[in-house]
Amino acid sequence: MRKVLVTGSNRGIGLGFVKHLLGGGDVVFAGCRNPDGAAALKALQPEAGERLVVMPLDVTDEASITQAATVVDDSGGNLDLLINNAGVGGDQTALGNIDADDMLQTYRVNVAGPLMMAQTFAPLLAKGNGPFIVNITSLMGSIADNRGGGWYAYRTSKAALNMVCANLALDLKPQGIGAVVLHPGWVRTDMGGSGATLSIEESVGAMLNVVDHLTLSDSGKFFNRNGGREPW
Ligand SMILES: NC(=O)c1ccc[n+]([C@@H]2O[C@H](COP(=O)([O-])OP(=O)(O)OC[C@H]3O[C@@H](n4cnc5c(N)ncnc54)[C@H](OP(=O)(O)O)[C@@H]3O)[C@@H](O)[C@H]2O)c1
Repeated sequence: MRKVLVTGSNRGIGLGFVKHLLGGGDVVFAGCRNPDGAAALKALQPEAGERLVVMPLDVTDEASITQAATVVDDSGGNLDLLINNAGVGGDQTALGNIDADDMLQTYRVNVAGPLMMAQTFAPLLAKGNGPFIVNITSLMGSIADNRGGGWYAYRTSKAALNMVCANLALDLKPQGIGAVVLHPGWVRTDMGGSGATLSIEESVGAMLNVVDHLTLSDSGKFFNRNGGREPW
């Protein structure tokens, strides 16, 4: 039984993570911006009981992150797995109409958010069992794989997240904490759209299989859901 925190857990891939982790017997701290409106998440509460802790968490709000860390700390002071899942797609307008403020807001969620989460939760992870930070990135953040162009805010934010993860892997190694970036594939969510190739269950099940087999020697790597490596 692990203690796991998932950000952006009220819908999409994040909600899929929560369901799968609860099904496997884990304790889940489910962070979401608006717990009152998180009906699908709260519907899991009766069956999960104390293994599901739904808590407010906006990854762009440092006070909110600190408050979430207090909730986890009060439950025993340790955390085994942090899944930095929350993300936004950003402005998709083409070159010529890109809005700098949107770009910065995308960075606040997709780059600074996971970093502030890692920074705040590192002391709790250091007390965990085989602790890992799993950052949900995208192949769209791969410079080597970019053949389509466009999507400036999203692509660059995920490339920056990849560098954040490479840095975390180095900086947290002495504390025994691993960090990876994981690409979920193209998934049918609000962000991925209805034409995507994978169901949430297919993607999440495969990703958690990868997570279950991580060792510290994997830290700093860019994986896909099948456990293969992706190019930076
Ligand atoms: N779907 C795909 O095909 C695909 C492919 C590659 C990578 N990804 C990545 O997978 C992750 C999950 O994507 P998804 O498809 O599940 O997206 P989604 O359906 O749009 O859900 C995004 C989640 O992130 C949350 N979120 C947004 N801003 C937040 C903030 N400031 N603080 C906390 N939570 C916030 C949302 O909360 P609200 O409900 O409050 O807005 C929502 O729970 C993202 O990092 C995404 O980049 C997705």
